[in-house]
Amino acid sequence: MEYVTLNTGVKIPRIGLGNSNRGNKIPQVGLGTWKAQPNQVGEAVRFALEEAGYRHLDCAPIYFNEKEIGEVLGQIFREGKIKREEVFITSKLWNNAHAAKDVEPALGKTLDDLQIDYLDLYLVHWGVAIKGNIGEEHLDATGTLISAPVSIQETWEAMEALVAKGLVKAVGVSNFTAPMLLDLLSYAEIAPVVNQIELHPYNAQTRLVEFCHNKNIAVIAYSPLGRPRSVINSGSRLPVLIQDPVVMNIAKAHGKSEAQILLRWAVQRNTIVIPKSMNPENMKSNLLIFDFELTGQEMQALTNLDRKLRYVNPYDWWKIPYFD
Ligand SMILES: NC(=O)c1ccc[n+]([C@@H]2O[C@H](COP(=O)([O-])OP(=O)(O)OC[C@H]3O[C@@H](n4cnc5c(N)ncnc54)[C@H](OP(=O)(O)O)[C@@H]3O)[C@@H](O)[C@H]2O)c1
Repeated sequence: MEYVTLNTGVKIPRIGLGNSNRGNKIPQVGLGTWKAQPNQVGEAVRFALEEAGYRHLDCAPIYFNEKEIGEVLGQIFREGKIKREEVFITSKLWNNAHAAKDVEPALGKTLDDLQIDYLDLYLVHWGVAIKGNIGEEHLDATGTLISAPVSIQETWEAMEALVAKGLVKAVGVSNFTAPMLLDLLSYAEIAPVVNQIELHPYNAQTRLVEFCHNKNIAVIAYSPLGRPRSVINSGSRLPVLIQDPVVMNIAKAHGKSEAQILLRWAVQRNTIVIPKSMNPENMKSNLLIFDFELTGQEMQALTNLDRKLRYVNPYDWWKIPYFD
């Protein structure tokens, strides 16, 4: 096993992806960057890399902050404090660039913004194609997203071409269901190495995780903490996962935070986690999950919290029953 060793001596496992040896191994904990505000994200990424010891960043052009992240990456790599090849960097193809002719230009913009010349992993963000500029979404009179007639096969072939050109080390998908994966695997010359999906005890998706692992597709858990701040701040009625009594009791038993328990549950079921934080203390503590273990009973108690609850549900924005 390879590790990222923090200056505290803590070791974060690095996991191999797919069958090929082309790529860098992915550290099992990475830093999420969605809703990381452009005026904050640069310093947060600098802290994450230079102080906390993160070596894995999860980015996307739809987060509208790749430019600010790139300014910091450019500086850090130029100064030579950390080498480009030590950091695993993921980004994602947005829905407006699924047409074959648009895929490489979209990647080019991400690489320019991030000030790097290759990605470790490029994901198809959603299995939905649309027209227009990034950030633009057109709805019909019923409030349903107007999609573009581009097949996933067309997009995937363009993704594969990026690997051949050396612009990305590996390709994968995000928000793919089992039937979508089966279809993709039927024609893919390069199989997806990752499926990035919403995973936490309220949306455990145990069967999809098993299915992906059986197909040699690693699973990255997004929103692994259940997006606590958005849920609390929006005053929504969604339950707050980190305040669940089962999570709180297990945290007490181990002398760990609720967030650490949720992240430990994720890594113990062999998924990769990308908690987002802009707070230095949270960033550091989210890495400290390899010095304890949950018992089989605790793992099961957390999995039993499953209620198929999604904090990220495209039906709310697109009226597409994507996961129904
Ligand atoms: N592929 C996709 O479609 C998709 C969808 C959603 C997310 N993602 C990726 O996954 C990443 C993570 O998901 P997410 O951002 O939705 O949600 P999340 O990681 O579950 O939650 C992030 C929130 O948790 C707070 N937090 C972090 N560490 C904490 C701790 N130790 N204790 C208490 N609160 C803590 C953060 O606040 P502070 O900043 O104040 O710490 C932030 O508000 C995203 O940032 C993005 O990179 C991908």
